[in-house]
Amino acid sequence: MPALSSIAGSVPASGIRRVFELAQGIDGVIPLAVGEPELPVAPHILAAGAAAWERDATAYTPNSGILALRRAIVAKLARHNGYEADIDRVHVTAGGSQALHLAASLALGPGNELLIPDPGYATFAMVPRLVGASPVGYPLHAENGFVPVIEELERRVTHRTRALLINSPSNPLGVVYPAEVMRDLLAFAARHDLWVISDEVYEYLSYDDRFVSAATIDPSRVLGVYSLSKTYGLTGGRVGYLVTPPGLTSAVRAVQEATVSCVNEPAQWAAVAALDGPQDAVTDAVTHYAENLAAARAVLDSRGIRHLVPGGAFYLWIDMSHETGGDVAGWAERFLLTQRVAVAPGSAFGPSGEGWIRVCFAGRAEPLLTGLGRLPAPAGRTR
Ligand SMILES: Cc1ncc(COP(=O)(O)O)c(C=O)c1O
Repeated sequence: MPALSSIAGSVPASGIRRVFELAQGIDGVIPLAVGEPELPVAPHILAAGAAAWERDATAYTPNSGILALRRAIVAKLARHNGYEADIDRVHVTAGGSQALHLAASLALGPGNELLIPDPGYATFAMVPRLVGASPVGYPLHAENGFVPVIEELERRVTHRTRALLINSPSNPLGVVYPAEVMRDLLAFAARHDLWVISDEVYEYLSYDDRFVSAATIDPSRVLGVYSLSKTYGLTGGRVGYLVTPPGLTSAVRAVQEATVSCVNEPAQWAAVAALDGPQDAVTDAVTHYAENLAAARAVLDSRGIRHLVPGGAFYLWIDMSHETGGDVAGWAERFLLTQRVAVAPGSAFGPSGEGWIRVCFAGRAEPLLTGLGRLPAPAGRTR
């Protein structure tokens, strides 16, 4: 077999996948490792997708998506995100993942660097590699609530840096950046003339009302990454979108043409129904997650297990350093095999995640609380 390309060989494997795959072979595992909302998709969304299949709406669509969906996105950006975007700035993608790749394709080239949060969503370290660029982690610290620190960013900027990636509400931490932090980040990007790739896929899952879209501050350099996966429980539907500054339409369309051409049409019609239709299922889901969070925190607090209080998303970031001995990935595998609970090792999200685990609280309450009850408490605490 010929040698693998240097690009494919440089993309790191996901540390969450390892736990996920190990769990497949074990009966009765409580799955808390993956960010999968368990609630059913709202019937009007499913009906719109089914109707599109039935009327054979299966042709190629424009690279950037059907007009009805892009119009629905423009209306949603004004309604929810608080900014006006011309329809030519909106590009429908195969989930937030492909929006990240599209953003990287626009902002980065061989030899460039992308500043990414550490800990951060594992894919952030993968996408720059796909375009020959490198990720450079900026550490987030427990002492200041894991929000980015401008001095840490300043220390890592080089002449190769082309973009800053930010993620609020964040995965794996659930941190929502306050408006002043967002303003500082955009000012930092402006000082160094960087693109800002703003991953806002958890935009609806905010428990403290502080969520601010980066493009409301400086639309001229923001590539906004959005997804219907988490908001509508449509993870397998594969619909997201990228919102760019004006003037990039032909570059975006060329990249789309060469990668996915377009997103499958029935999924786009389902997305129109999701955005334009009733939002009760979203409100109900957020209420369910907030209830899960409160119950989960009560279990952790009663057992003296340190954790971060998330302001958004649906993850708990839990300190297991009293047990892991500097190898949380190995510990998570042993915990899975002995306790039958799958959790994501913090090291899968970057070196700063060592000693921590991430637990998804988007599922049913009962297995979540049972799983948390099996976590080892620090010595001297209730077990
Ligand atoms: C921060 C973040 N961005 C993007 C994605 C990808 O979302 P999608 O399923 O829409 O590709 C995820 C999924 O977990 C995520 O956590």
